Amino acid sequence: MSTTDNSANALGIPPRRLDMRFDAQEMERYWYGQDPFLTLFWGSLSLLFPEGERFFVAAVRHYRDQIQDPQLLTDIAGFIAQEAMHTREHEALNAMLNQQHLPAAEIDAQLHKLLAWVTRLTSPRLRLAATCALEHYTALMGEQLLRDQRHQHMADAKMLPVWLWHALEETEHKTVAYDVYEQTGGGYALRVGTMALTTVVFVAFTAYTQVRMLQADGQLGKVRQNLRGLNYLFGPRGLFLGLSGKFLDYFKPGFHPRQHDTDALVESWRERLFGAQGLLRDQVKMVKTRTVQAA
Ligand SMILES: [Fe+2]
Ligand SMILES: [Fe+2]
Repeated sequence: MSTTDNSANALGIPPRRLDMRFDAQEMERYWYGQDPFLTLFWGSLSLLFPEGERFFVAAVRHYRDQIQDPQLLTDIAGFIAQEAMHTREHEALNAMLNQQHLPAAEIDAQLHKLLAWVTRLTSPRLRLAATCALEHYTALMGEQLLRDQRHQHMADAKMLPVWLWHALEETEHKTVAYDVYEQTGGGYALRVGTMALTTVVFVAFTAYTQVRMLQADGQLGKVRQNLRGLNYLFGPRGLFLGLSGKFLDYFKPGFHPRQHDTDALVESWRERLFGAQGLLRDQVKMVKTRTVQAA
């Protein structure tokens, strides 16, 4: 397999449709380790996906006509179709959060306004750089989710598949926005400057969402529980601290997402999810990229 050509995605980016059902009656309310803080944290992330991923797709699509490389054009079609499917499934999940009297619709509407405002005030180039930055986050979190066994013990069996599938596809398409940025002349200073700016906005909005979710669920005052949750996520042995080296790689001038080699991880999870004995083998339908592309 060649790793010298940055535009080539050797494993491909196959969009898959799952049609998952999320029913509050059938699901444990605190579906991650029976822990309200952690369950609401994953719920908060889910709330950011529909609007966020529509923003990513618009940012990449804006530059599609400037791309000559046929492999990258195929990858863009896969990226757009995968993100469209993620939006769809997370909308279904978020509808369940609404049923549970969590402020899903409210936060979705606020994020819609925020991103409409960002779109009015920024250039297409900056929005593409912000997409590269956030795709770096989703790639790192996706890889973490696939590699760390803790999730499989902590998450409810009805909830885990949507996260594994999403994590796999974020890993599969992690190079696409970056390649579009590079092939259309995006530079280093804007890329890393936008990462810094995007991180501030992303962290602030996620923190706001988490606080609003905790408040709506009557959990905000449970200090010990919430500190334990924060420690699970960001503490010395937490999920995210170990990602800081890979996160900082983004600031190197010669960085490319492919340098974090995830090919074996992708192949192993494709088999575990969609292979002959795969967890989701009966649910998955492959999507024709052209159909979604034209939507
Ligand atoms: Fe996604
Ligand atoms: Fe993505």
